[in-house]
Amino acid sequence: MVSIVVGGHYGDEGKGKIISYLALKDNPDVIARAGVGPNAGHTVYKNGRKYGLRMIPCGFVNDSPRLLIGAGVLVDPQTFLAEVGETDTGNRIGIDKRCAIITDKHKQDDVKDKHLKTTIGSTGTGCGPANAERAHRTIQLAQDIPSLKGFLTDVPKELNDALSSGKKILVEGTQGFCLSLFYGTYPFVTSKDTSASMMAADVGLGPTKITRVYAVFKAYMSRVGSGPFATELDERRAKVPLWKRLLENAKVKGIKGRNPNEIMAEYFNEKGTVTGRLRRVGDFDMELAKYSCMVNGATDVAVTCVDKLFPACFKVRAYDQLSEDAKAYLKNIEQAMGVPTTLISTGPDAEDIIDLRA
Ligand code: GTP
Ligand code: IMP
Ligand code: MG
Repeated sequence: MVSIVVGGHYGDEGKGKIISYLALKDNPDVIARAGVGPNAGHTVYKNGRKYGLRMIPCGFVNDSPRLLIGAGVLVDPQTFLAEVGETDTGNRIGIDKRCAIITDKHKQDDVKDKHLKTTIGSTGTGCGPANAERAHRTIQLAQDIPSLKGFLTDVPKELNDALSSGKKILVEGTQGFCLSLFYGTYPFVTSKDTSASMMAADVGLGPTKITRVYAVFKAYMSRVGSGPFATELDERRAKVPLWKRLLENAKVKGIKGRNPNEIMAEYFNEKGTVTGRLRRVGDFDMELAKYSCMVNGATDVAVTCVDKLFPACFKVRAYDQLSEDAKAYLKNIEQAMGVPTTLISTGPDAEDIIDLRA
């Protein structure tokens, strides 16, 4: 059985939280990280400590599974080795020998290049320049780096062998559908496709091997960096339901005369995990989400941060205990998507979740 978790919108949907729950609840034998590379930051908690992981699979919160990084993923050796130490996962993590390597030069280029840094609003982590060099076929691979020697493996072989012997696999996607190089808001996108098929290819699993695809959405939407955001809150749209709810909850002081988006970011505590930049915030975009479910082939939808929109739902762990307005909001999403919402997240801890899976 193979499950893939992908971001449904612009990244930072709380994939980290959903993956940590699945890692603990479903107890997969192997957890593999896919996606672009260290431009992604997944937030997870283990024993009360917060981790913003950029290389290590966030499924590490479960101490047992084998952890892998697929060949499609760019590896920054410094970040990888630092996180291996921080998470104490050296004895169970492997990286594919064909992962491409991010160097200091890629990072410098990402920051120096005005187009990437300013226009696109890249994370500055070297991923764009590294993928460009990878396509140019001059990049170094993990097998060329002495400090990575002890971690090298053949990820597709490990995963397909595990599958053949009936083991459970969890694949962690990164970024979000709207950041896809193919399907996102080009040119304001990342340097690779971000859909579930890409994640499967990243780790070397063929399309016929995938059992379940979880598309993760926040109850509202956020975007870090530049680019179109149709439902973004701004002055002109100040009467949309989300904005009204914020005013009703009135947790933010000094609203008058301030930029609504800044207030929203503050209210929702929306700051980029990798860059610390304030995230832009907006309403849930049904059409976009539906399209995202279609291309991802989603079998399940997970909705996170329901408690931020409906504070009465904070840490609720049973569907019946959700407030009526939250239930109606979630039903609306489910009907529009045509995909069952099977996971509802009501707080940052792995256990703050309502699991409606059969
Ligand atoms: P990905 O990049 O998609 O993996 O998401 P992420 O979890 O890394 O992104 P981010 O750091 O933006 O995560 C969202 C933030 O909200 C994190 O601090 C999470 O711990 C937190 N979070 C996730 N789900 C929930 C939820 O249901 N309720 C609340 N209150 N916080 C949540
Ligand atoms: P890059 O991937 O660093 O080149 O950044 C390109 C665009 O994708 C920028 O708008 C980034 O903010 C965005 N981006 C890349 N990775 C993530 C992520 O994990 N979460 C949210 N936005 C991301
Ligand atoms: Mg993130």
